[in-house]
Amino acid sequence: MNHFTYHRGILHAEQVPLAAIAEAVGTPTYVYSTATLTRHFRVVTEAFGQHPHLLCYSVKANSNLAVLRLFAQGGGGFDIVSGGELARVRQAGGAPSRTVFAGVGKTPDEMEQALAAGILMFNVESAEELEMLDAVGRRMGTRAPFALRVNPDVDARTHRYIATGLKTSKFGVPFEEAVALYARARKLKGLRAVGLDCHIGSQLTSAAPVKAAISKVAGLYRSLREQGHPLVHLDIGGGLGITYAEETPPSPQEYARTVLEAVKGTGAHLILEPGRALVGNAGVLLTRVLYRKRTPAKLFVVVDAGMNDLIRPALYEAHHGLRPVVKRRGKAVEVDVVGPVCESSDVLARARPLVLPQQGELYAVMSAGAYGMSMASTYNSRPRPAEVLVDGAAWRVVRERERVEDLWRGERA
Ligand code: LLP
Repeated sequence: MNHFTYHRGILHAEQVPLAAIAEAVGTPTYVYSTATLTRHFRVVTEAFGQHPHLLCYSVKANSNLAVLRLFAQGGGGFDIVSGGELARVRQAGGAPSRTVFAGVGKTPDEMEQALAAGILMFNVESAEELEMLDAVGRRMGTRAPFALRVNPDVDARTHRYIATGLKTSKFGVPFEEAVALYARARKLKGLRAVGLDCHIGSQLTSAAPVKAAISKVAGLYRSLREQGHPLVHLDIGGGLGITYAEETPPSPQEYARTVLEAVKGTGAHLILEPGRALVGNAGVLLTRVLYRKRTPAKLFVVVDAGMNDLIRPALYEAHHGLRPVVKRRGKAVEVDVVGPVCESSDVLARARPLVLPQQGELYAVMSAGAYGMSMASTYNSRPRPAEVLVDGAAWRVVRERERVEDLWRGERA
């Protein structure tokens, strides 16, 4: 559920007509809905009810400070993968003590910063990383709290670029090696085992792989506890999918039931790392039609948002809904909606039936709140879009449109 709906034929974000935002700040512009963000956060956390848990929002999905602040104010924690994300969390007023740090390539510097900040735990992804974290802990005269991220070797049945829990994936340590690694860590003075972690992939649309992976990991959690490792946190990662087109992902309630069933009897404090499920449908990308162009093969609609602004369609052939900001009647024609970037992959929508778009017309690219702006680049020297946060009838710019001068900041001719 989201708060982007038509009122009298005009698409609104909550009570704000999207055309008013486009008029004031131009396009392309990301627009987020406060009501949708806070609702998703509440629904996911309520689904886990009384079971002790912490929602660590996955910052990579959308790292705007205003979005982070909303979740911090809601009592949320954070899942980060870099020193940059840690800095954002702190800048937004998030608590390091509710922050977990994953990623296969943490540098010793990043470890040191995170340890000094007092994060909840490091999710360690290899034996060598474990040794490095120990060294950093000892150097700082402390024990670094860690969980091992294990790879449960479960097929998440999602796009191969965003599946992370397969044997062939670079993430986590092989399931079979975990016991030996915890035993090794027990001998190291710079480490303190506090949890166990897994994450099998993103945009999961069925509960079965979640059940399989978490049951397996819960079993490991129990036997590690029996072996005397004082684990308290079971981090089950993120991955809950959303509806972009026709997908029917598990509801937060069904997801929670599946997870809680799988972890029954572990007594573990659960850590969840949802990204997309919280922010995906809470954002749209506003774009304007520049030109139509008919070739013998196709009808192209060229818009002012390109793959540098939203890379998901180009990178994953992902589907995003397209809605005209002003509803129009008419017969639908099949068009390819493309951006201005000099790449044939810069296609927002292929063979999409739309009432023939008009020059200057505004469209909302739907479900663009996750992995939209956070993956945007300045390719083709295109300044990145502005970001706007709507709250009821009010709205404000939460990131200014990048300026052309920003493009060469730090460069020397
Ligand atoms: N935890 C870990 C360890 C992760 O690697 C990820 C996502 C998450 C949590 C959050 O997953 P979510 O709840 O958002 O599915 N750029 C891709 C998605 C990449 C996901 C990477 N890891 C996309 O646009 O679909």
